[in-house]
Amino acid sequence: MIDPFGRSITYLRISVTDRCDFRCVYCMAEDMSFLPKRDLLSLEELERLAGAFIRLGVRKLRLTGGEPLVRRGVMALVNRLGLQIGHGLDELTLTTNGSQLARYADELAAAGVRRLNVSIDTLDEAKFASITRWGRLPQVIEGVMAAKQAGLRIKINAVALKGVNEHEFDTMLAWCGDHGFDLCLIETMPLGEIEGDRMDQYLPLSVVRQRLAANWTLTPSTYATGGPARYFDIAETGTRLGLITPLTHNFCESCNRVRLTCTGTLYMCLGQDDAADLRGVMRASDNDQILEDAIRAAIARKPKGHDFVIDRTRSGPAVARHMSVTGG
Ligand code: GTP
Ligand code: 5AD
Ligand code: SF4
Repeated sequence: MIDPFGRSITYLRISVTDRCDFRCVYCMAEDMSFLPKRDLLSLEELERLAGAFIRLGVRKLRLTGGEPLVRRGVMALVNRLGLQIGHGLDELTLTTNGSQLARYADELAAAGVRRLNVSIDTLDEAKFASITRWGRLPQVIEGVMAAKQAGLRIKINAVALKGVNEHEFDTMLAWCGDHGFDLCLIETMPLGEIEGDRMDQYLPLSVVRQRLAANWTLTPSTYATGGPARYFDIAETGTRLGLITPLTHNFCESCNRVRLTCTGTLYMCLGQDDAADLRGVMRASDNDQILEDAIRAAIARKPKGHDFVIDRTRSGPAVARHMSVTGG
């Protein structure tokens, strides 16, 4: 599928649940109201949709949430989707908060998952508990180590937050290097109302990169995942640093992805509201041709880029829905 700007759409992110066992301060409000179960796509419907996207040229599937591993029965879906690897699908992967990984790491590896992105914003237990509101870092680390043990490649995602974790990236990079993990830093994006002002938390990664370059030899890398990060090889560790900079260095020009919510809404851009209701199409007919036509029609509306800006003159977030709805 080629969009109006000539970009080939090969990457589908599927949010399998809007629920999460954490409440990261930049992602959710403390008292989130979650969707009633009846609104969710069934696992069979998710599989049917994924199949349609693969037939249309999607090569990479990423399950997200909320927290994907808290969706009941999610492993059945992972196992079914894993069967598509090598038959149209190149990669099946997840972005997870790691809390359930100790339990699922082996099963994920057995299903054909080779790589995981795990969100860890700090290695300080108390700070981790305050960012996630009640998450336990040791549980997450245990999960990450189980995944490593299972042979999965790990990338640690950290949202850069001014005055919160900004002086920890050296430590995190060293820790990741010791374990063979890549580290990916992310600029905070204005999605959904949260407590506090995003502007207070926003830290441009251009600043972080300069600071890190004082202690590490960073060379632009040829490594590419088909995701939004730009990578740097780190000579001292043999691992990589990824930077995701929607605010300071827009990457929309090379966008290859769309995202599906757990209710079957397809968002063509993380930072835009336009969406297509695929659940309605799917429930109205068993005909996959009609479903594929609806997907093609949605891709034909994919916007050029996001509308994110972070400044004090703007009241409220650029996009009203929370990150947990679209799964990043
Ligand atoms: P890789 O396959 O490892 O490249 O993963 P990824 O970076 O595509 O996925 P991940 O779930 O780890 O996302 C990391 C961050 O990138 C999250 O904060 C996402 O919200 C953000 N992100 C992913 N795709 C987009 C995008 O198209 N636009 C914007 N603005 N952010 C994105
Ligand atoms: N801005 C940037 N990244 C975010 N994430 C969640 N909310 C935001 C936000 N507002 C990150 C998570 C996870 C990934 C899916 O998105 O930390 O790593
Ligand atoms: Fe949950 Fe991830 Fe959002 Fe944190 S960022 S609340 S772990 S979905």
